Amino acid sequence: MKKYTHIDDIDNINSWIEEAKEIKANPLKNIALGKNKTLGLLFFNSSLRTRLSTQKAALNLGMNPIVMNVSGDAWGIEFEDGTVMNGTTAEHIKEAAAVVSQYCDVIAVRAFPSLTDKEKDESEQVLNSFVKYASVPIVNMESAISHPLQGLTDALTISENSTKKRPKVVLSWAPHVKALPHAVANSFTQAMQKMDVEFVIANPEGYNLNSEITKNTRITHNQNEAFKDADFVYTKNWSSYDDYGQVLNTDPNWMITKEKIDEAKFMHCLPVRRNVVVEDAVLDSDSSLVIEQANNRTYAAQLVLKKILEDL
Ligand code: CP
Repeated sequence: MKKYTHIDDIDNINSWIEEAKEIKANPLKNIALGKNKTLGLLFFNSSLRTRLSTQKAALNLGMNPIVMNVSGDAWGIEFEDGTVMNGTTAEHIKEAAAVVSQYCDVIAVRAFPSLTDKEKDESEQVLNSFVKYASVPIVNMESAISHPLQGLTDALTISENSTKKRPKVVLSWAPHVKALPHAVANSFTQAMQKMDVEFVIANPEGYNLNSEITKNTRITHNQNEAFKDADFVYTKNWSSYDDYGQVLNTDPNWMITKEKIDEAKFMHCLPVRRNVVVEDAVLDSDSSLVIEQANNRTYAAQLVLKKILEDL
């Protein structure tokens, strides 16, 4: 595999899930594969899980991970072509990506959206500039519009915890105090579209995700109706897509409660704000899969890195 930037880089999600389960059962089996290979992790934004689980995955494969907080520690990078660079940026992505490619065999990038400029965010300028100007494979650690490592993790977690051949999975919007990106919801939607599940999205009016991503997935504005007979409730806040980046609704009635989800398993990518997005009683119950989801981030990343290493 030459890159992992989108859920569509998964050719067969069922075989990927089975391989991820094998890696989880024996995480050090391929410790020789990454010997003398370096993974560079470049963070333009904060992270706990992605930062640590991707390094752990690299270490399990015998790779050497090196990490940089680009926004805080590097020179300001210019991404526009032809700019007279007499402002705040000090080096161009053309040089930066070429230089990092000399130090690293694989480069992983995290770069969130502005949530103010839809067109620019959807162009995935930072991620795609690394794809264009780096000479080594690129892994998406959450870009402006997608988080495919999280989407793969979530597919694995559902497969592991499903007791039915075709479970009902609900992606539910929940309130939040800040405007958040669409990336997790987008990649979760795309992952579920590849799986044999009954998939429904519940969100308030004004919060439909990009229709080019949701396609023919059923969307309802009635959360309780969506939760009926649900096996998995995956919760995430996102800002409005149509009224781009705006917070239109903070209605606490959309918060996830134990009473609402009943017997369903609860999922969230984390970090999560307790008693805003979901009440304590859910997170502190046996229904919550959030810690296992975070654990599975390592095996999803390890599978992706393994496929890239096998093709170097
Ligand atoms: N779920 C996730 O990507 O977590 P971090 O933002 O902490 O990496």
